Amino acid sequence: MQSTRGVLIVLKGKNIIVGICGGIAAYKTPQLVRLLKKEGANVRIALTEGGSRFVSELSLATVSEEAVYRSIFPPTNKEGTDFTHHISLGEWADALVIAPATANTLAKLSAGLCDDMLTACFITLRPGKPILVFPAMDGGMFLSPSVQRNIATLSAGGCQVFNPESGELASGQCGTGRMPEPDTILLRLKEALGRSAPSSPLHELSVVITAGPTREKIDGVRFISNFSSGKMGFAIARAAAKRGARVTLIAGPVNLETPPGVERINVESAMEMYGAAESFFGSCDIFIGAAAVADYRPLSPYEGKIKKNAEELQLTLVKNPDILAAFSLQKSPRQLAIGFALEKEHDLEHARKKLESKALDLIAFNVFDHKTSGFEVDTNILTLIEREGQATELPLLSKDGAAEKLLDAIETVRLKTGIKT
Ligand code: CTP
Repeated sequence: MQSTRGVLIVLKGKNIIVGICGGIAAYKTPQLVRLLKKEGANVRIALTEGGSRFVSELSLATVSEEAVYRSIFPPTNKEGTDFTHHISLGEWADALVIAPATANTLAKLSAGLCDDMLTACFITLRPGKPILVFPAMDGGMFLSPSVQRNIATLSAGGCQVFNPESGELASGQCGTGRMPEPDTILLRLKEALGRSAPSSPLHELSVVITAGPTREKIDGVRFISNFSSGKMGFAIARAAAKRGARVTLIAGPVNLETPPGVERINVESAMEMYGAAESFFGSCDIFIGAAAVADYRPLSPYEGKIKKNAEELQLTLVKNPDILAAFSLQKSPRQLAIGFALEKEHDLEHARKKLESKALDLIAFNVFDHKTSGFEVDTNILTLIEREGQATELPLLSKDGAAEKLLDAIETVRLKTGIKT
């Protein structure tokens, strides 16, 4: 058994647009992009005409590993062009950072003008996504009534506008107008993203999830297993960690990255998975059995390699313990047990019986067809069945989407059960 912890980094996997305007401070932006990339963010650049006079498109494309966005009009002669990138770029983003922001761009943003990719992103960003604006210019310009009026308009519209720092300016004078250093901008962005994370009833709860297949040894080189990819369990772990839960993921052998902030315990066999899970039975708040645990294991696995001398070979299999049922039969009323039922046919009755026999609080039923739902694929169609018999059929969703819906349902069950944290 082996345990690793994925580090919870607020920027990991986040989509960030860096908007760069025409000020001398633009020369610092490749460093900002590098810091963002180092934190695991996906970065795209919206560079204004003025910005391109101070920092090269090539430098920015190199550090961001993406083509730089300038004009709202895409080239019409390139294969694979996104002809509506003036909308899709803003919709893609989790946050927009404008650094440096010039007096000209502040005026355009506050007036709602939209004649380049930076201003288009500002307008098409989804509601609630943080917008951080770092004005940088000559001190006198910054204090001018028009700049101050535009800043006030942007702040009133929900943007976070950060006062420039004092120091030596490009004019040779000292005053307020300098853009903060890239590491300060990075910090402000992390704070903003941290604040924008929705608070969930799962926050700080201990959630244990089993995922993936198990391998039951026949001999030193062979095993019995199944096609489970672990994707559904990992999606649930990712979604629960995003909601602030303390997640332990007990994973069979799968080829998937540990989601950020998740404690992962790697196991091979059902007996190992049982051993790892059992240690959390008394302490966890929610136990989710998403693993495809092998029902049987060879009674006495051969130490070496079985030779093909005999015409027939008989394997004696013994039943593995049911990990989820073991949890649910001993759980206290403040704990929830959630299971999965996988069938070839749309047989809700079978899933309902499983819910009863394993004394679960909720079961997620799915059919395997190797195309849209079940093992290996990236999508799933779940039907969620609660104890009182209520069944909700979800549409075809990505496994991440299905995980979010499952967690929504778990939050509701918890609320109905009246469990207090
Ligand atoms: N489960 C478990 N330990 C086992 C077997 C199953 O924890 N040894 C959990 C799974 O993670 C899943 C649920 O129980 O949440 C599935 O139950 P199971 O009875 O294995 O379902 P099927 O394999 O679909 O059952 P059957 O063979 O009866 O059709």
